[in-house]
Amino acid sequence: MEKTSTHNLVPGMVLARDVMDQTGRLLAPSGQEITEKLIRIFKIWGVGEVRVKAPEDGDIPADTEPPVPEQIRKKAEELVGYRFQYNDLNDPFVYELFQLSSARKARRMLNNPDHAGPAEMMLTRSQDDAGKPAVSGRGKINVENLIFRTLRLGTLPDIYYKTIAAINNPETSLDDIAAIVSKDTTLSARVLQLVNSSFYSLRQKVDTLTWALALIGTNQLMTIVSGVSAVSLFKNIPSRLINMASFWEHSIACGTAARLLASYFPQRIEAERFFVSGLLHDIGRLILIQNLPEQYHDIFRRVRKEEIFLFTAEEEKFGSDHSYVGARLAHQWNLPEKLVNMIRYHHFPAQEDSFDEPAIVNLADILVNALEIGNSGEFFVPVIEPDVCRKLNLDKEMLQWVVNEIDFQLADIFEIIYGTSEA
Ligand SMILES: [Fe+2]
Ligand SMILES: [Fe+2]
Repeated sequence: MEKTSTHNLVPGMVLARDVMDQTGRLLAPSGQEITEKLIRIFKIWGVGEVRVKAPEDGDIPADTEPPVPEQIRKKAEELVGYRFQYNDLNDPFVYELFQLSSARKARRMLNNPDHAGPAEMMLTRSQDDAGKPAVSGRGKINVENLIFRTLRLGTLPDIYYKTIAAINNPETSLDDIAAIVSKDTTLSARVLQLVNSSFYSLRQKVDTLTWALALIGTNQLMTIVSGVSAVSLFKNIPSRLINMASFWEHSIACGTAARLLASYFPQRIEAERFFVSGLLHDIGRLILIQNLPEQYHDIFRRVRKEEIFLFTAEEEKFGSDHSYVGARLAHQWNLPEKLVNMIRYHHFPAQEDSFDEPAIVNLADILVNALEIGNSGEFFVPVIEPDVCRKLNLDKEMLQWVVNEIDFQLADIFEIIYGTSEA
């Protein structure tokens, strides 16, 4: 019987099955050899693993990585277990996520003995404040005042709204959209940069916006526009208050995960909206940190000392948490109501009537938090509600697929949205 195996993309191997994209379109037939060019095509369509045949003279080479020593594996499980303490590890889905997270943690610890996940980072911060009292007093914040102050710093640029309007108008041509985008030189540069990046690896250099838009499509354009706009708006928050790269890595990964989860369900066609929701879901935290840095620092300490969720500490300290603050800002930005609700209910999706849309962002946030992809300040892994699992019909295979795809897609989109934000 023919020997086959699921494998990462490696040139020279031979496909054992036809490879399709999410919509069932054939990307490459069984029997075709994997080339660098084919890998680029798979990458564009989000295929990270394929089924390959064993060579005639031997076995399929394993995805070789050195084994993790037992001692490191146990330590990783202990650290991850502490962060999972509010989750039910008897639930098979939760346990699978715990195992994936522990394995990643162990691998990171092996490759980098100085690896600092959220646990270690937060401990360092707390030690700075040894001896100081925990939270002193409680004061409700005036959310409207915070939003007003934030809006004075800037709002989403006009180009954002004009581009959305143009895309949503069936009468608009690509030339018209290109004409709108070309008025913003930063945005134009980002679009051309994406098209000419390794993500597409085209032989020819694309030097016109119309051509670029024809290649990337309007959905991808909206992703870039919203991402670049949001990142640039908060770029002046000092690094001593929050690690912005880590914050945006968490947010971009959450957006990527939410888009993947949404695309998994055939009835959801606007997967791109989920990316934007994931991207912006914790933006309220930036508003709180920017306006109330001292109080927020107190909250960080309290989270570790009392082993509570950051959003709970925010609510108790300020009378509102970051999801409420972020949703108010999104509302002021005139973002669509569905998107506002996904931000508002990303920690408590069952509170929203339609439930399933916030549930996707909720799960995406928990996944990237558990896997320690970036960090927006939350220390403990939020609880995966059984209702969310039931509603989204989650299973272990889907989890594995989403995690692989996040790893596969994140670097490119992070580079475009954040990595070049200072350019
Ligand atoms: Fe959050
Ligand atoms: Fe988050």
